[in-house]
Amino acid sequence: MKIAVFDSGIGGLSVLYEAHRALPQEQFIFFADEDHVPYGTQTPEAVQQHVAEAFDFLVQQDVKAIVVACNTATSVAVPAMRERYDLPIIGMEPAAKLALDEDGTHRVLVVATPITVHGKKMQLLIDKVDKDHLVDRLALPRLVEFAERQEFDSPAVRDYLAGELAPYDLTQYSALVLGCTHFNYFKPAFRHLLPETMHFVDGNAGTVRELRRQLAVRGQLEQLVPDVAYYYSGRRVSDATGLARIEHYLRQLAQVYSL
Ligand code: DGL
Repeated sequence: MKIAVFDSGIGGLSVLYEAHRALPQEQFIFFADEDHVPYGTQTPEAVQQHVAEAFDFLVQQDVKAIVVACNTATSVAVPAMRERYDLPIIGMEPAAKLALDEDGTHRVLVVATPITVHGKKMQLLIDKVDKDHLVDRLALPRLVEFAERQEFDSPAVRDYLAGELAPYDLTQYSALVLGCTHFNYFKPAFRHLLPETMHFVDGNAGTVRELRRQLAVRGQLEQLVPDVAYYYSGRRVSDATGLARIEHYLRQLAQVYSL
C-alpha cells in the first residue's frame, strides 16, 4: 500500500523528499492542493473544507497512512480527519520545542502562515513548552506565493524578508523555526539575513520518524519497488511540463538540505 503526503501546495515536497530518503522502498502519493493554495490566509472553515475533500480523494487511493505535510492544515483540520478515518494521520506543528530543547537560553523565532501563527494549537504549544517566554512568532504569508511561483531568492524575496525581520534583534536568537513546509525553499535567502549564530529548525525529520514509528507498530513497513505518483488537487501530474516543475522543486530541496 502507498503512503500519502498531503499539502496545500508544493511545500509538502520537502517532507516527501525526507520521507523518500528515510523509507526508500515505500511507494508514495504526493497530493498538492494547487486549486486552493494558499491555505494560510483563508478562514479555518475554508481550510477544513479543502482538507476534507483532499482526504476523501486520498482514502479512495487505498493508502496506509496520510502525512499532513502542512502546519496550517494540521492546525485546524487534523482532529476532525482523525475522527473520520481509521488510518494513521501524521500531522506537523512548528518545531518550537526542538529549538528550545537545543538551546533554552536564547530566543527562538517561529515563522509560519497566519493561521498557524495565530491559531489555538500554536498558543497551546507555546503555553506548554515556552515557560521562559523565549519564543516569538511571525507570519510570512508572501513566502507561500513566492514558493508557488518558484521564486526562491530574488531581490523581491530578500526585500520582503529584510523588511519583516527588521524589527527583531536577531543577535539574541539561536534558531529560526520554519513552521511552514513552503519555507524550506528559502533557506539561502534567509541565510543572507541571519547572523551565523542562528540556525534552522524544522519538523520534517520528526514527522518522518513518527510516520515510520506508526507504520512499524502496525506492521505496515514494506519493501516495494520505489514509486511516487504526483497529484494536483486530485488530477494526476504526468505531463512533461508538470513533472519538470516538480523536478525543479526537488532540485532546490537537494541544495537547501545541505545548509
Ligand atoms: N505549507 C503549508 C504549511 O506548512 C501552508 C502554506 C499555505 O498554503 O498557506 O503551513
